[in-house]
Amino acid sequence: MPSIVSVASGKGGVGKSMVVSNLGLLLARKGHRVILVDMDIGGANLHILFGIFHPPATLTDFLTNTLKNLNEIAHPIPGLSSLKLIPGTGETLITANLQHAKKKRLIRHLQKLDADIILVDVGAGTSYHALDFFLLADYFLAVATPDPTSVLDLYRFIKLAAIRKVLTAFLARDPVAEALLDKDFHSVTAVLEAVGQTSESGVAIAQQALTGFQPALILNRMTPKSRINTLHLQHLLKQYVGTDLSVLGNIPEDIHVQQSILKYLPVVELAPSSPAAMALNQLAENLLEMMSRTPGALGQMKEPRKIPA
Ligand SMILES: Nc1ncnc2c1ncn2[C@@H]1O[C@H](COP(=O)(O)OP(=O)(O)OP(=O)(O)O)[C@@H](O)[C@H]1O
Ligand SMILES: [Mg+2]
Repeated sequence: MPSIVSVASGKGGVGKSMVVSNLGLLLARKGHRVILVDMDIGGANLHILFGIFHPPATLTDFLTNTLKNLNEIAHPIPGLSSLKLIPGTGETLITANLQHAKKKRLIRHLQKLDADIILVDVGAGTSYHALDFFLLADYFLAVATPDPTSVLDLYRFIKLAAIRKVLTAFLARDPVAEALLDKDFHSVTAVLEAVGQTSESGVAIAQQALTGFQPALILNRMTPKSRINTLHLQHLLKQYVGTDLSVLGNIPEDIHVQQSILKYLPVVELAPSSPAAMALNQLAENLLEMMSRTPGALGQMKEPRKIPA
């Protein structure tokens, strides 16, 4: 079973796809079999970053049952046999309103892809799709820029993901799940209170659900003038969400990134010694190190995950 790494952000345009394409290439070069999956429903463009304009098959073919096996959609990236890409789907009625059964089937197939590492590019925002695709992973990467609105959106995203994760833990426990799924929660504390009222063991189960939820932050587009108080963000998340946030690394603002996007090549390929490429190399190292020291790491077997309806 592959290890799944999801990459999300609250705000759009902060560099998720840039991170996914570059990390994918770097991890493949290090000898891992990597598949990138574009789960940015409606905003899929990861294939463009590799200069693939008309992919022969996309996630749409899988969601409409034209192709039955997700492995068939994995498009090889020229020049690197260990790197493949599953191009995403555009905004259609099927994807805008992705049925629960289709989402479950997609997640099941992702977990069976023939690869060592799956990197999932989750679309921006806090839709159920974005939260569920983020949460299906073993490792959670959250990208933000130093812009205060980006950091605030990231905080909101992680908070809602944590709430959704806790609610998911009660899926199999009908009375509690029914009481919870009909309510709209604004904080993890509110969920814990509601859970405590419905079930004695509920709070322990909820806390257990958050134990493995430790997103790692990537700060992109940093400049010498950037002032971002990561400790404050970590403190807020711990206090109000009950979640630990680690910092995976920073990527500087770098003109080579824009140039590489215009040339349809990852910056680590086009300008390997540029500041952004060096930072991305360090990020890839840090990610592998994180994966080797936490459960669910490369090569270990995992239980299939559940998602709420
Ligand atoms: N480190 C950087 N230095 C300079 N420009 C950058 C950097 N990172 C990203 N950009 C710019 O930001 C743009 C958006 O990046 P990207 O498409 O990866 O964001 P995204 O989070 O995937 O966006 P969306 O939410 O729309 O999917 C890039 O086209 C590039 O011009
Ligand atoms: Mg993107």
